[in-house]
This record gives sequence, structure tokens and C-alpha cells, in this order.
Amino acid sequence: MNKKIKKAIFPAGGLGTRFLPATKASPKEMLPIVDKPMIQYAIEEAIACNIEEFIIITGKYKRAIEDHFDSAYELEENLRKLDKKKLLEEITRLNHINFAYIRQKAALGLGHAILCAKPFVDNEPFAVLLSDDVIDPEETLLKDMIRLYEKLGCSILALEQVPMTEIHKYGVIAGTASGNGLYKINDLIEKPEREKAPSNLAIIGRYILTPEIFGILEKLTPGRGGEIQLTDALRDLLKGQTIYGYHFRGKRYDAGDKLGYLKATVNFALKNKEVSEAFIKYLLDIAPTLKTKGHR
Ligand code: UTP
Repeated sequence: MNKKIKKAIFPAGGLGTRFLPATKASPKEMLPIVDKPMIQYAIEEAIACNIEEFIIITGKYKRAIEDHFDSAYELEENLRKLDKKKLLEEITRLNHINFAYIRQKAALGLGHAILCAKPFVDNEPFAVLLSDDVIDPEETLLKDMIRLYEKLGCSILALEQVPMTEIHKYGVIAGTASGNGLYKINDLIEKPEREKAPSNLAIIGRYILTPEIFGILEKLTPGRGGEIQLTDALRDLLKGQTIYGYHFRGKRYDAGDKLGYLKATVNFALKNKEVSEAFIKYLLDIAPTLKTKGHR
């Protein structure tokens, strides 16, 4: 029987240059979508999949992540005194979770960030969640991928169809469709030029990986952008193991990018009980002014 997926890695060691100056001294992963930092959405997604061990890869200026998931005794006491039960419940909800933090000493790439977690993962399959790829909490992507791993026993990558104008931003696969959204992967390429992209199926920020990836990452030389690229390691893994891609058709926001972040914020606000009504009213109010500005 295939091993259970109990561990998840949350790489958060990147520089977040697309969000400068906001990310100069604060982590991108702590940017809020309405009222919750984006990394908390990813943690909650993993909790919903019965993940038991949470490994966060941090880096310089990322201390706020550790503080966020720590208990906040003074704040909790104050909320208790003020009888703010709902807020107290909200900020203590994750207090029982044990997090392991590993500091990536330099932002040498996603592959390197994952390699930093090797001592904590050992010889088990594990999940990777990139918290700046925000998945709508109503979707079941990671759950579906775990189920596929349990059946197939190999690495599973989340895929999304992206417009060819965007393809150069992603790792892209060449694969053979094998039904129910599954693709048997034949090749992968990191950030290809549009003309060289083998398909429009891009790898997005959810992975189930087998532990053999660590040995490959250890030997890997820097690839595109001088970084240790996970896509290059997956390409090597493919020489010895089958890898499947799973075509996700639900809602994902590339919140590491300004426009994607704004889209996530608007859509999450529209679903937020506290603000949605007033927010919709506001959007309807400003809609005519957007039209007169020449936008459609
Ligand atoms: P990104 O490609 O979004 O890079 O990384 P970035 O540095 O965060 O942001 P930009 O592109 O400069 O704006 C994808 C994920 O991999 C993590 C990031 O934190 C993010 O979750 N990462 C990236 C690391 O943990 N370490 C790295 O060295 C690079």
C-alpha cells in the first residue's frame, strides 16, 4: 500500500520582487487577502486534507510568519477581558498545530527551498503548497491529488491551462491524456518561450512528491535564472519514475503577482459575510465611472 501523505512543505523563502516595495522588509506570504494572510489559506487547505506536519521554509525578513502562527498570550488575554469571543476563537484556532521552521539562508530557488526540508521529511512522500498560488477554499484540489497519489503511488503535479501569452511564466509539461483530467508526463520545461512551449498546461503551486526528489535536488546545478529549479529536478525524476499531472479546472489566483492578488482580494471580499453587501454596492457605484474612463 502507498504511504499516507502526512507532511507538507510551504516554501516561503522567496524575495517577492513583484511586490516591492511592500516585500522589502515583510514577507509576501503575510499579505492579507481580505483579513487573512495568504499563507494561512494554504495551511488551512492542508489541514482540511489531514496533513499532520507543517514545514515552513522561511528566509530573511520572514519572522512575521513565525509570530503569526505562534500563540499571542497578551492579545488573547485582552480579547478575553473584552469578551470578544469570535475574534478570540479566530486567533486561537490554529494554536494546536505544530509548525517546523527552516530558514533558507539564500533565495536559491524553489528546488533549493524544498531541499532544505529534507531532514524533516526523510523517506516519505509529501505535499508542497506555494501559498502565493491561492486556491479558492471551496475547491478540493489537494484532496484530489492526495487521492490520486494513494491510487497511483507516484508524484502528482497540479496543472492548469494558461493562455499562451502567459506560458513563459510557468513550468510547462508535455503529456499524454489518460482520462479524468490526468496526464502522464513525458517532459517538463521551466518558463519556455511561447514558441518552444510543448503545451498550454502549466504547473501550478500544488505538488505531491516522492522522496527520491531530494537526492536529485542535492546534485542539481543552477538552471534558469541561476536558481535550483524544481522543474529541472522533476525532469530528472521522470527518467526513473512515472509522474502524473492533474488538470485543475477550479479557481486559482496567482497572488504573487499584483493583478492576481487584486483578483483574489475582490473575489474573496465578494464571499465575505462581513463586507460583501457593502462591497458589491461600492463596486456597482463605481462601475459607471470605470466605463467613462474607457474601460469595459
Ligand atoms: P516565486 O517564483 O513566486 O518567487 O516563488 P518569489 O521570490 O516569491 O517572488 P518574485 O517572483 O520575486 O516576485 C514561488 C514560491 O517559492 C518560494 C516563494 O516564497 C514562493 O512561495 N521560494 C522561491 C522559496 O521558498 N525560495 C526561493 O529561493 C524561491
